[in-house]
Amino acid sequence: MSSLTKLALGMIGRLRPKPIQGESQKTIALLPPEKEGGMPLMEAISKRRSDREFARTELPLSLLSSLLWAAYGVNRPDGGRTAPSALNAQEVDIYVALPAGAYLYDAAENLLRLVASSDLRRVTGYQDFVDEAPLDLVFVADYSRMKLVPVRQRESYASAAAGAIAQNVYLFAASARLVTVIRAWIDRKAIANALGLSHDQQVLLSQTVGFPKG
Ligand SMILES: Cc1cc2nc3c(=O)[nH]c(=O)nc-3n(C[C@H](O)[C@H](O)[C@H](O)COP(=O)(O)O)c2cc1C
Repeated sequence: MSSLTKLALGMIGRLRPKPIQGESQKTIALLPPEKEGGMPLMEAISKRRSDREFARTELPLSLLSSLLWAAYGVNRPDGGRTAPSALNAQEVDIYVALPAGAYLYDAAENLLRLVASSDLRRVTGYQDFVDEAPLDLVFVADYSRMKLVPVRQRESYASAAAGAIAQNVYLFAASARLVTVIRAWIDRKAIANALGLSHDQQVLLSQTVGFPKG
């Protein structure tokens, strides 16, 4: 769907998900992440970039599992994560839009929990490539976990945490020869509706990931 069509549909509140391709599973058990190897850090940093051309090929489960762990997995026995958060509130959730449904990443259990049996990739942004790329991540702040943070700071702190997660995704993508782009040009209301978010939750950013085209 073109950006113009999406903008028009968004304006009348009609930017909606598509039926799923395949079957949704209530939960998807992720594989143990690959915590060793990959590209040396300085090489990955030197290759980090935004790209906007994606093949339709789906990511294998092993790659998806390692990607999510790199993004915001648990990396310490005390429940610490791969990206920081103010007062360790861990207020950002990652929603994972796949052709076969939208899922919430449960880092502690290393699994995906179904939140919508629809293909809501196209709802995750105005740009046309988000419809066809195999994976769109949505970073959502849950302010009910930020009670110790002054109200006027909550959005900026959560956005900083989401930025750190996004950079983890960028570096993983560089290392695994995937392509990615973080996106703020999104219809936050349409996404919140499609995901069934509560009043305490706010959509911050989306990020598309996939294999390079061609
Ligand atoms: C907060 C933020 C929002 C962004 N929003 C979008 C977006 O909506 N669409 C897009 O294609 N790129 C978006 N970008 C990516 C920037 O366009 C990109 O990072 C910039 O052009 C620099 O390119 P590089 O990432 O390859 O260094 C965003 C980047 C940031 C940090």
